[in-house]
Amino acid sequence: MREAPIGVFDSGVGGLSVLAEIKRLLPNESLLYVADCGNIPYGEKTPEFIRQRCSVMAEFFVKQGAKALVLACNTATVAGVADLRRDYPQWPIVGMEPAVKPAAAATRSGVVGVLATTGTLQSAKFAALLDRFAIDVRVITQPCPGLVELIEAGDLHSPALRQLLHGYLEPLLAAGCDTIILGCTHYPFLKPLLKQMIADDISLIDTGAAVARQLHRLLAERELLASGPSREAQFWTSASPEHLRNILPLLWSGSGVVQEFLL
Ligand code: DGL
Repeated sequence: MREAPIGVFDSGVGGLSVLAEIKRLLPNESLLYVADCGNIPYGEKTPEFIRQRCSVMAEFFVKQGAKALVLACNTATVAGVADLRRDYPQWPIVGMEPAVKPAAAATRSGVVGVLATTGTLQSAKFAALLDRFAIDVRVITQPCPGLVELIEAGDLHSPALRQLLHGYLEPLLAAGCDTIILGCTHYPFLKPLLKQMIADDISLIDTGAAVARQLHRLLAERELLASGPSREAQFWTSASPEHLRNILPLLWSGSGVVQEFLL
């Protein structure tokens, strides 16, 4: 069981930003990744639809013999993690949420920006996160429709992307945000471009590394940490495997086999 793989999924390639943190912290683990690219963007889908995709993913990873599940997607977590934890009580399941708590602790201007999907920002879970942690802090939220589609196409810095991003950043910068939460796992891939577009003293916060640490904790508690060596990562996509093979080198530093996900 210790050498069993870990199942990770996202609506698309965004979760690869989380997979990289898992690989860095837990190099002995064998990783399976499903990109539900045929159904992007989750951010504009109903919570019911996303919950149904979460169960499809969970069943798939059970069949693959995964010892743990990671929802490398904020939108899937707010919609589906509670149901998955109810349906698979014995399974270590790690979800992710925008980093409101660390951002509220880090801000000096008292104004925090959140870039995330419409689905995440409209969820009750996100509202609860603000109630709990955004005390004495002003939070400016900005949904970013269209960004995920460009990143999925392998675009990390075109003029069209820059223009879209500029429109999303403007209200945050005008409000005096000194801390910006990247509340969607696709957005860390835009960090190099974002850094060109904001002042040096504005910090960008994402939760990939925290997810890897939480996964480590849950596996350690259950004595499930692999001793290695890990097997090559395996990838599945519900859209074109050819497309994922083409853009994978841009987003993932390791090797891996890409297959079609037919569920
Ligand atoms: N990567 C996902 C997240 O973290 C969602 C992207 C999408 O809208 O499909 O929220």
